[in-house]
Amino acid sequence: MAAPSLKKIAYHTLQQGKTLAGLAHKELSTKLMEVFAPDAAPGKFPIDQDLIKEVRRSMEELERIDWKEAEEGIYPKSQLFEAPWLEWAKKYPLVWLDMPSTWERRKKNKTREIPKHINEQDYPNYYLQNFHHQTDGYLSEHSAEIYDLQVEILFNGTADSMRRRILAPLKRGLKKYISENSKKAKVLDIATGTGRTLQQIQSALPQVELYGLDLSGSYLKQASKYLSSRSGDIVQLTKANAEKMPFPSSSFQALTCVFLFHELPREARQNVLNECIRLLEPGGTLILADSIQIEDSPKFTSIMENFHKIFHEPYYRDYIIDDINLRLENSGFSSISSESHFMTKVWKANKPL
Ligand SMILES: C[S@@+](CC[C@H](N)C(=O)[O-])C[C@H]1O[C@@H](n2cnc3c(N)ncnc32)[C@H](O)[C@@H]1O
Repeated sequence: MAAPSLKKIAYHTLQQGKTLAGLAHKELSTKLMEVFAPDAAPGKFPIDQDLIKEVRRSMEELERIDWKEAEEGIYPKSQLFEAPWLEWAKKYPLVWLDMPSTWERRKKNKTREIPKHINEQDYPNYYLQNFHHQTDGYLSEHSAEIYDLQVEILFNGTADSMRRRILAPLKRGLKKYISENSKKAKVLDIATGTGRTLQQIQSALPQVELYGLDLSGSYLKQASKYLSSRSGDIVQLTKANAEKMPFPSSSFQALTCVFLFHELPREARQNVLNECIRLLEPGGTLILADSIQIEDSPKFTSIMENFHKIFHEPYYRDYIIDDINLRLENSGFSSISSESHFMTKVWKANKPL
């Protein structure tokens, strides 16, 4: 067997480092919470050693696929190392400073502390919440500034690898447009947040015209900051509700949507899918990524249950049992398939010709 390359060793070391940092952060913050805000500590399902081993195996498999797909050229290897490390280092103290107010909200079960200046009429009611107990929900620059770092910590450094699982099916879906058409294929990332997925698509598919949409102006501002610091074409960002997107019908060849569905009530999930089919050109592809669901990963049920007990995730419990395939069919999608990677499930579906 050939010895692993230096780059592969560097990637493995980076992932291990991120995992250890995430675990150490959580261990310390849980200890502090138990001392300073014991009432905020949620009751959890115990996680036994066998399950921990299973989680490790699943994380190793994610790392293996992440490396393999880079080797196959689905995205450049440099993407595996890309992150605003300096920015994150600067913002890390903010994550700690934010913690006491997070505990306070958790302890008092306060889930609707949204900045006063926000005009509530501009947002659906389900959105006006402190998802993950985070300060200001999605509605402030402070929240947008520390979001990426919080997600990396939450998933022990695997968040970007999980998002990257959309790239191989997206490239397959776009193959016919990229090879046959002189016109640029248009791709919209729905609920793009701070734009991590847009950055990944931009480096894997520099030839497509990219668009991003989110309901949070602050998150889009952050996305714009990151995207404009990179080389590559301008990405058009739009503030709107994914249930009613301000684009003409059949205007995109592909749509992506990462980690949105578990934060939507059922009806909104269906509305978003109905909008997706409208926006796609016939033959176009939707790639949807979100948490795994109970039916495909029953062994991880206690982890999924703990997730919504620990963090304020009001629609997660319903999401993990929702039949997304049926919803896709109801909206008119065909050729529906799905695959799971660690804690992420990825659907691919087409708008019929
Ligand atoms: C968990 S974050 C995921 C963000 C990003 N896709 C990522 O991978 O980090 C959920 C995002 O969905 C956005 N969002 C929630 N409901 C929305 C809606 N109805 N329309 C548009 N965006 C929405 C939030 O503002 C937030 O940026």
